[in-house]
Amino acid sequence: MALRAAHLLGIEALAPDEITYLLDLSDSYVDLNRQAVKHADVLAGLTQVNMFFEASTRTQASFELAGKRLGADVMNMAMQASSIKKGETLIDTAMTLNAMHPDLLVVRHPHSGAVNLLAEKVNCAVLNAGDGRHEHPTQALLDALTIRRAKGRLHRLTVAICGDIAHSRVARSNILLLGKMENRVRLIGPPTLIPSGAADWGVEVYQDMAEGLAGADVVMMLRLQKERMDGAFIPSEREYYHRFGLDRAKLSHAKEDAIVMHPGPMNRGVEIDGTLADDINRSVIQEQVEMGVAVRMAAMDALARGRKERAQ
Ligand code: NCD
Repeated sequence: MALRAAHLLGIEALAPDEITYLLDLSDSYVDLNRQAVKHADVLAGLTQVNMFFEASTRTQASFELAGKRLGADVMNMAMQASSIKKGETLIDTAMTLNAMHPDLLVVRHPHSGAVNLLAEKVNCAVLNAGDGRHEHPTQALLDALTIRRAKGRLHRLTVAICGDIAHSRVARSNILLLGKMENRVRLIGPPTLIPSGAADWGVEVYQDMAEGLAGADVVMMLRLQKERMDGAFIPSEREYYHRFGLDRAKLSHAKEDAIVMHPGPMNRGVEIDGTLADDINRSVIQEQVEMGVAVRMAAMDALARGRKERAQ
């Protein structure tokens, strides 16, 4: 089985069996990545282009490594902030690249919907590496894989997503994925950082960490996305940490074996206590990074197979 769609633009378009398929395939790549020789040739001869119109450390490195481990020719385009001002520029860049016959295009863009627009204009498979506050599908998949491996299942879990939900594509993709797999999702944060329509998403909304974390299996912290804030959303970082920052006292309300997650990059002492983030008995933040490479290998493998099947 490959994926039904030609692109991976969001979790929204994925069916539960496609999510399970991708996670199973990812598990096999976790095994490969732990070998001394980490190579498979499933993308040999194919060209992967990474276009990041927004700063990224782990996602870009992860996609680059994933492509290289699968034998693709990988090119990173350094996109300058100055080239993203107009929609036309994006499409022009895409058309130029398209003429070079890439097979996989990995795109991150600050505008929600930009990656979908681009996917309509090119002939290759497009992977969304994060668009504005819309979606970040490989992040939700790597989070799901981390949860599934830590908890032994990916259904009927209580997952608390805490902090800056309003500006977070990670939250959106996770809410969609966890909902599709029949988990209970809680959002915890100040009203200014919870989107107004959140109550209609099939989630429970809390403004108090103790209440929202009670009985949670998974505690997912989010970065305060200051670059997407156009005003004051919190009184002060100190006050925010006091009310919403995850420390051991607040975590004690969750289940005893609850795991702590963060997509990175972290603001230590703002949304999470640094020593808790580093505590390997509670925090799976490093595992998330490890799973990220495997998930991206699986996603590119699946899309490349789909392309091959469609071409036959
Ligand atoms: C996230 C992103 O870029 O959306 N980071 C990531 O991909 N690991 C979250 C964030 O920037 O806070």
